[in-house]
Amino acid sequence: MNQRAGQVVTVTGGSGYIGSCLVQLLLRRGYNVHATVKNLQDERETKHLQALEGAESRLRLFQIDLIDYDSIVNAVNGAAGVFHLASPCIVDRVENPQRDLLDPAVKGTINVLTAAKKLGVRRVVVTSSVSAVIPSPNWPADKVKNEDCWTDEEYCKQKEVWYPLSKTLAEKAAWKFAEENGLDIVVINPGTVMGPMIPPALNASMQMLLLLLKGCSEHYADVFMGSVHVKDVALAHILVYENTSATGRHLCVEAISHYGDFAAKVAELYPEYNIPKLPRDTQPGLLRSKDGAKKLMDLGLEFITMEQIIKDGVESLRSKGYIS
Ligand SMILES: NC(=O)c1ccc[n+]([C@@H]2O[C@H](COP(=O)([O-])OP(=O)(O)OC[C@H]3O[C@@H](n4cnc5c(N)ncnc54)[C@H](OP(=O)(O)O)[C@@H]3O)[C@@H](O)[C@H]2O)c1
Repeated sequence: MNQRAGQVVTVTGGSGYIGSCLVQLLLRRGYNVHATVKNLQDERETKHLQALEGAESRLRLFQIDLIDYDSIVNAVNGAAGVFHLASPCIVDRVENPQRDLLDPAVKGTINVLTAAKKLGVRRVVVTSSVSAVIPSPNWPADKVKNEDCWTDEEYCKQKEVWYPLSKTLAEKAAWKFAEENGLDIVVINPGTVMGPMIPPALNASMQMLLLLLKGCSEHYADVFMGSVHVKDVALAHILVYENTSATGRHLCVEAISHYGDFAAKVAELYPEYNIPKLPRDTQPGLLRSKDGAKKLMDLGLEFITMEQIIKDGVESLRSKGYIS
């Protein structure tokens, strides 16, 4: 029996792709979960959570808006721990980057951490991304990228890649807040997350897989650094929450790899789809590594293989009718 069974934890973005999987795992481990959604009246955000095992007695849903501090207080009140996942996850062009990406990511993070500090939360797990690690064109060419590597903010502004900028600014704001206010935080930096889907809607990373299966030849040069199974991402959050010795950032990828490696594997496994042949190096300068997520491996995480990530992702897209 998990020693923390019965403990209350909050998951912001609980309705989302990773959030739903994390809520499911937390319920299985005996936690009481406060999960946030953007709109309690929208069944597409709530029904899949209410259907989870244990939800009836141990899940409470809260409506929040990341830029409304008061809405967040209700969801965090009474929690010993917070998992902060809510953030707009949009890699396509947005109309207004400040309003649509940067403000909810950065102000939202500060609002959640402020509430956590005021309400006596013991530990906050912040979901950052490899997008706070790459694009980082000035990192030494002969050195594998690791948790010391940060996204180049100026490069993002010049190339107008706003999602990596939003994740980088949000993570930096989190570390600054934690240091200035003495709050215990720990960070997960997942790669491109795929596998089975619990919510009815398609998120950005599963959309990438769907587009590839439909023949799209986009390279994702500024956002891809490796794939990771959604169940491993959920487990990584819990491992760093429960192991208080876990500190700092944690790269969370099955391996550091290029998008071309991923596309080639999809083509090998599913020759019936029209998968484009991409160049070997779709992420110029990115050194491949099997143990990019060494910190999480040392905590006992055995990463699900790329092959299984693809199989579970494709199976889920088929079962939900996105592809035949
Ligand atoms: N998917 C990946 O490959 C990947 C990789 C690395 C990091 N991440 C990070 O992981 C987290 C979750 O991503 P995901 O893939 O699960 O995305 P998702 O399915 O789009 O989930 C995002 C969640 O954030 C909530 N949210 C967005 N804007 C909000 C706002 N203004 N107020 C309140 N809630 C808001 C969404 O609520 P609604 O459902 O109500 O819209 C949803 O629950 C994000 O922080 C993302 O940056 C994702």
